[in-house]
Amino acid sequence: MSKTIIVSNRLPVKIQVKNGETVYKPSEGGLATGLSSVYKGEGNVWIGWPGKIVKEEKAQEKVKADLKDLNLYPVFLTREEIDDYYEGFSNEILWPICHYVPSYAKFNHRYWEAYKKVNRKFADGVLKLAEKGDTVWINDYQLMLVPFLLREKLPDISVGYFQHIPFPSYEIFRQIPWRESLLEGILGADLIGFHTYDDIRHFISSVTRIMGVNSTANHLIVHNRPVIVDAFPMGIDYEKFVEISSLPRTRSNIKKIKQSAREAKIILSIDRLDYSKGILQRLQAFELFLKNHREYKEKVSLLMVVVPSRDEVPQYRELKEEIDRVVSDINARNQTLSWQPVFYFYRSFPVEMLSALYQMADVCLVTPKRDGMNLVSKEYVASRVDEKGVLILSEMAGASKELSEALIINPNDVPGLSNTLLEALAMSRNEQQERMIAMRKTVEKFNIHHWVKLFMQRLNEVKSMQR
Ligand code: UDP
Ligand code: G6P
Repeated sequence: MSKTIIVSNRLPVKIQVKNGETVYKPSEGGLATGLSSVYKGEGNVWIGWPGKIVKEEKAQEKVKADLKDLNLYPVFLTREEIDDYYEGFSNEILWPICHYVPSYAKFNHRYWEAYKKVNRKFADGVLKLAEKGDTVWINDYQLMLVPFLLREKLPDISVGYFQHIPFPSYEIFRQIPWRESLLEGILGADLIGFHTYDDIRHFISSVTRIMGVNSTANHLIVHNRPVIVDAFPMGIDYEKFVEISSLPRTRSNIKKIKQSAREAKIILSIDRLDYSKGILQRLQAFELFLKNHREYKEKVSLLMVVVPSRDEVPQYRELKEEIDRVVSDINARNQTLSWQPVFYFYRSFPVEMLSALYQMADVCLVTPKRDGMNLVSKEYVASRVDEKGVLILSEMAGASKELSEALIINPNDVPGLSNTLLEALAMSRNEQQERMIAMRKTVEKFNIHHWVKLFMQRLNEVKSMQR
């Protein structure tokens, strides 16, 4: 029977060592949390990095055996590969370019050499597992070259590429010295997916201008092979979030949060540490709100979860220091003996705690300056089985195209955001419910299973068209 081979830089689980024992914990980030619900069916497998350096062969064999039971196949990376391919090329060049911060990009040739080498390593991993009739689904910017590398070896193979982060406009993308090779890499796929139509437009503009590829609407012809580019806005496992919302552990977490919040309202934000998430502007807006609306003093707190991420990359390290400083300044300036304005957690939480936080938050504040999709906003909506709560959502997140009943903001407009906080906190129960019911319908319908089905159906259509 044919299978689907999912490929991504990061596996949905990561290795942690606790008291000398190797344990496997769920990975954070939208790609891993979203796809982890769906890969398990019908003999499918997932190839990726298990999140930690495992040097010795014996230890690698043990990890391989442990993960095989979960249908996961590890690609081990060395310290140097992590430095130059993962932190370097992926997160010091592609991430800032795709999130419109080209001034952060460090076009280091050594990074490019490592990116090519590691992409080949992933392609070799796929080739070892691929059998006739299999479908390969490459996920995200860390692996742009893999579709081409597979096509070279197996010209008839069925390959989908999905990019979970934005594709920037041609003027930004063209700045990368290795732009042709990257596009040639992606064009090895039969189906190329993004979250939004803007990403498609930008991608097609880059391939036509940089590669001279012919296109009619979203159909491309690449060396006589039809290739389709399409938008597939990713969803979440709605049912799972509904179920988790009433688990005993979630309920007991809710109780604890209620006790510590007392009567104060909660504004919640949850993100990985990332300069694309607009964390500093959000803090400024919250402080401005407190200054302009003294009546809310002691009546509302911002509960901010920042999940550690890529903290070896200089801009991330600096951002962490800046957030620490700003949070402690806001608290020092505003707190009273019985009230803390900002509760800041620099850690990750299990999903039963995330669900409790979502359910206890009067307002969920999602303010990215750029975000491919943003699943946190959808998880908040899915968790609100009580149909209450207000979502404030940045227009720069892919999710804003679907969740139009949220309060949509421009994350760079700090005074505007402060006013929207007031609107959210004062919103009537009826209006909250109306908006939440509409958003819940959308998140329920366009869930992760729907997303996978659409992508796979479209890939089959492209293959039939090619034949
Ligand atoms: N997340 C998590 N543990 C945490 C906080 C967040 O697993 O402590 C998850 C969250 O549930 C969501 C993902 O991390 O599924 C973040 O995805 P999103 O699309 O919002 O942003 P990304 O991190 O992919 O940029
Ligand atoms: C985003 C990216 C993913 C990435 C995740 C976490 O969701 O689209 O590809 O896995 O962030 O980042 P990390 O660098 O820790 O894998």
